[in-house]
Amino acid sequence: MTTVTLGPNGPAVSALGIGTWAWGDKLFWSYGKEYDSTALQEAFKAALAAGITLFDTAEIYGFGESERLLGQFMQQMPQQPVQIATKYFPLPWRFTGDAVADALTASLKRLQLPSITLYQVHWPFDFFMGQTTLMNALADEVQQGRIQSVGVSNYSAEQMQRAHEQLAARGVPLAVNQVQYSLLARQIESNGVLKTAQDLGITILAYSPLAQGLLSGKYTAETAAPSGARRLDPRFSRSGLEKLAPVIQVLWSLAEQYERTPAQVALNWLIAQGNVIPIPGAKNADQARQNAGALGWTLAPEDVERLAQVTQAWQ
Ligand SMILES: NC(=O)c1ccc[n+]([C@@H]2O[C@H](COP(=O)([O-])OP(=O)(O)OC[C@H]3O[C@@H](n4cnc5c(N)ncnc54)[C@H](OP(=O)(O)O)[C@@H]3O)[C@@H](O)[C@H]2O)c1
Repeated sequence: MTTVTLGPNGPAVSALGIGTWAWGDKLFWSYGKEYDSTALQEAFKAALAAGITLFDTAEIYGFGESERLLGQFMQQMPQQPVQIATKYFPLPWRFTGDAVADALTASLKRLQLPSITLYQVHWPFDFFMGQTTLMNALADEVQQGRIQSVGVSNYSAEQMQRAHEQLAARGVPLAVNQVQYSLLARQIESNGVLKTAQDLGITILAYSPLAQGLLSGKYTAETAAPSGARRLDPRFSRSGLEKLAPVIQVLWSLAEQYERTPAQVALNWLIAQGNVIPIPGAKNADQARQNAGALGWTLAPEDVERLAQVTQAWQ
């Protein structure tokens, strides 16, 4: 399995991770209705069997349930190396560095782990705490060994640069900026995030890399819309799906050419950008296996370009 380092010299992880927002989340996703913990455990096992070791979670996913499920699944496969990336949520009433330590303690307890591979700040809010206190608290945790690397999420180029400098003052690299990035969300190519990350050696973790399922090709103007919150997303409406049809057509044609699936082609395109680790969500073993199959092969440069051309409107 191909591995990449997080940041310039951080931990080596699989070149694709599995996102676990849907694991235990009933608010946005339909956990407990359309899929359950048994299906998720099968997804976990299938990902590991396919060589994926990186799992992305957050303290807020399912109000801790995502971390709790991961903790249980890991306990049942104690020999299996797993790398956890979780996230700290900067709530307004968390205003001292101790709040970071307490949130991490609670996450580690749910995960049943003494330490994790990556700890990320979920959104660039700091309220009364301020970024300096926040970054110092994270650097303290690296020094204490409870986290191996530090990341941020949803940070602009400028915010990322500042976090990089604040951590560097403590001798800790900023390893990751986790941002939305897919063929249907290409803003980071023009807003400076991708370029700044490349210049500073910060790895991009691409979230919603399948545009929440749209790039799998299974949602079309003729099929039923997904249940749950995605029903309210105009991209999943009839007109949204009609607009998407030319993109899906190219994905299907490349999928046939490479004997892959549209989802695998869409994920492979992200990897082709360099310095990008996609973290697609998976709700069952089949999705986990399929997404892992985005690794181990490469789209030809002209096909990478063809996808860039057909998704120019999403840049
Ligand atoms: N930092 C942040 O602010 C932030 C925000 C959002 C997400 N994230 C992270 O990024 C991860 C992934 O993002 P996401 O879950 O929003 O979107 P995504 O990965 O683009 O899409 C995931 C959804 O697509 C469908 N799917 C996945 N693999 C498939 C396959 N091979 N074939 C067909 N359908 C497939 C599944 O839903 P259906 O089967 O129901 O269609 C799945 O729940 C999250 O789990 C989370 O870890 C982070």
